[in-house]
Formats: sequence, structure tokens, C-alpha cells
Amino acid sequence: MIFYFSGTGNSQWVAEELAHKLSDRATPIMAAKSDYSPAAGEKIGFVFPIYAWDAPACMYQFISQLNLNCDNYIYMVATCHSQAGGVDKVFKKALAQKGLALNAAFSVNMPNNYLLAPFLKIDSEAKRSKILRQAQSRLNEIAAAVEAEKNIISIKRGLSILSKIAPLFRRFSSDKSFYVEKAKCIQCGLCAKICPMKNISLTPFPEWNGNCAMCQACLHHCPTEAIQCGHFTKGKKRYFFKKEYLPHD
Ligand SMILES: Cc1cc2nc3c(=O)[nH]c(=O)nc-3n(C[C@H](O)[C@H](O)[C@H](O)COP(=O)(O)O)c2cc1C
Repeated sequence: MIFYFSGTGNSQWVAEELAHKLSDRATPIMAAKSDYSPAAGEKIGFVFPIYAWDAPACMYQFISQLNLNCDNYIYMVATCHSQAGGVDKVFKKALAQKGLALNAAFSVNMPNNYLLAPFLKIDSEAKRSKILRQAQSRLNEIAAAVEAEKNIISIKRGLSILSKIAPLFRRFSSDKSFYVEKAKCIQCGLCAKICPMKNISLTPFPEWNGNCAMCQACLHHCPTEAIQCGHFTKGKKRYFFKKEYLPHD
């Protein structure tokens, strides 16, 4: 079983691709049972995006409620734009608190969805294709390692000092930064439908209710780009994963 969380679809695609390659199943954590009983020999995977060099808080919440009770092979795959920091170390500790071991950890670079800083934007079409081409072969490597139940840490960490920012990011990130430009909003309700945390109510304009993963799904899926977050998202192009972006050659 592969448990996944995804905001803009990168991690969902990775989870589903791995499930396909490993003849496994992928389930979003929001729909997963916390008392899942794996079969003997079944591999357990966790796939999620990197937020500030760590896993999303909702992933740790899911693990804290998990009642797996097994010594099956366990692996994690973090999708990130470039650097996953020390996520495997924190993830390993979270699993250890539930009596579970982490056998393998991987990162895979995927297109960027983080726009909340002045210098950050989505990738150009050419860069996106290149990243996805590399991701396709990276997933073959990951699937082969998992299939062979390798004990391996294969994470692109970046500067280790950056991992120290994750707790600060947690403390200061909140959905209070999201707002809607009412003149652009067509009240289609897609933001509320797409939100994996079910954190958006429509009155009829979107309102965020304090249980946000900061995944940016609402912002990137809004068909009129009416949703903004903080000071740096206006005028920037949006991104969410589409199968048609995958290079086929
Ligand atoms: C709040 C937030 C923080 C992020 N932090 C990082 C980061 O520290 N390092 C990185 O390489 N990518 C970072 N990203 C980019 C995402 O990890 C990356 O685009 C990921 O594949 C998105 O997955 P998803 O489409 O499944 O939501 C961040 C994205 C968001 C929304």
C-alpha cells in the first residue's frame, strides 16, 4: 500500500506511477484507514511533497494516528523542486514513535509549485519537460530499489542549515495569507472541491477556515487566478500536474 498526500498533483502522480510499477495500490491519506492491516510481505510506502525541507504536518498527523503494527518493508518518497533537506531523519523519528522502522527514503525532483517568495515562479515549459523526463527515469530506479527491498537513503538534501527553517515555517504558515480577488472570482467552487483538507467554505466567495496544509491547490487550480497568497503570487503563472505534460519520447 502507498499512502500519499498531494496538493498540486505531483505526489499523486508519483504515488500512482509507483503503484503501477509495483503492482500496488495508492490511497490519499484523507481517505485511508488508520488501522490498516498489511498482508505479510506487503511493502508500505509514503509519498508526499516537501514543504520547507520537511514533510507536510498532515503527513505526520496521519502517521501519529496510524496503527500498523508490522515489521513490513517501509519506504518514503518525497517530491520536491530541488532540495528535500533532512526529511528522512524527521520522518524516521515519527515512524519510530509508532514502533515502525524506515527502510528506505528517496526524493524525486518535480516541477515547482511554490510562489510565495519574490524570486520564485513556476518552471518554463522546457524546464518542466526536462524535470518530468528525469522524474520518469528516477521512478524506475526507485521502483527497482523498493522491489528489491533495498535499505537505502537517496535524498537530495541541499544545504543542511535550511532544514532548521522547517519548524519556523510550521509556526508562521497559516491560511490567513490567502485571499480572493472578488472581481475575478466566478464562484465556481473549484477551490473548495479541490482542497484536500476540506478547509474552504463558499459564502459564496471562498473563505479559509484554519485547517490548511499550505499545499497551494486552491491557488493553482483557480481557473481565473483570483486566489492569491501573501504578497508575491499576483501576476505569476500557475501550475498543477497534467499527464499531457509528460514527455513521450
Ligand atoms: C509550502 C511549500 C513549501 C515548499 N518547500 C519546498 C522546499 O523546501 N524544497 C523544495 O525543493 N521544494 C519545495 N516546495 C515545492 C514542492 O515540494 C514541489 O513542487 C512538490 O512536488 C509539490 O507536490 P504536490 O504537487 O504533490 O503538492 C514547496 C512547496 C510548497 C507549496
